[in-house]
Amino acid sequence: MSRLEGKIVIITGGASGIGAESAKLFAEHGARVVIADVQDKLGQDVVISIGEDKASYYHCDVRNETDVENTVKFTVEKHGRIDVLFSNAGIVEQKQASILDLSLEELDRVMAINLRGAAAFIKHTARAMVERGTRGSIVCTTSVVTEIVGKAQHGYTASKHALLGLLRSAAGELGKHGIRVNGVAPFGIATPMLCDGSEMEASKLEEIFSLSANLKGVVLKARHVAEAALFLASDDSAYVSGQNLAVDGGFAVVKP
Ligand SMILES: NC(=O)c1ccc[n+]([C@@H]2O[C@H](COP(=O)([O-])OP(=O)(O)OC[C@H]3O[C@@H](n4cnc5c(N)ncnc54)[C@H](O)[C@@H]3O)[C@@H](O)[C@H]2O)c1
Repeated sequence: MSRLEGKIVIITGGASGIGAESAKLFAEHGARVVIADVQDKLGQDVVISIGEDKASYYHCDVRNETDVENTVKFTVEKHGRIDVLFSNAGIVEQKQASILDLSLEELDRVMAINLRGAAAFIKHTARAMVERGTRGSIVCTTSVVTEIVGKAQHGYTASKHALLGLLRSAAGELGKHGIRVNGVAPFGIATPMLCDGSEMEASKLEEIFSLSANLKGVVLKARHVAEAALFLASDDSAYVSGQNLAVDGGFAVVKP
């Protein structure tokens, strides 16, 4: 089944983790994917694994608005329009510090990517959609921390709350153009973002997440999040906007 047949998609942070899995899944569903990331070698490897007829890589640091504008321009010049933005690039502070020791430099660093980078992409993609009358879909990777606090770093938690506010606000304005904006909110997954920071093997991290997870017998993988993002990107969710779809096995509802 091709749920994104002929759709043109930009995925930020598509060189690794959730973004790379989504690029593969979206392409399997008939999309043409542009991966925007700063990890050029990894991004190009993802393109090769998908096939250069279906995917391309564009170097883009989401903190740089000119990079963002150029990525949107590249995509429109290559494919004629943009149907879907999956704004997914993100980072977390290396250490979980007390608020009493909060590093404002670290807070700025996280905000610049998780919030400002997403804002720049929503702005320029929505412009391209509105100009061409494209009734597109914008999906942002938020996090379970938008529903549960006290489990993650302060800057990261703040950035994802702000991102949720931004995407809801954008959904409010862009509805009149037929553009939907939603979030996908995963529980912990052993991707490089967490493995590198914690210096833990993926299997060890998965063991730790599984212990605190509400849903037992399933280990959350990037592919599960990609499947939820596919739903929000595709016409299967044609009347869904302003939502934050939890992929957390009920964790946020149970609030352990
Ligand atoms: N792994 C988790 O447990 C988890 C849980 C909830 C939400 N998330 C969110 O999922 C998203 C994807 O993270 P992941 O877990 O797949 O981690 P990841 O590290 O595998 O992927 C993140 C990607 O973002 C890219 N990136 C970082 N800074 C960038 C920049 N300035 N410009 C462009 N690209 C940049 C990285 O190069 C990388 O390819 C993030 O927004 C993260 O906050 C992750």
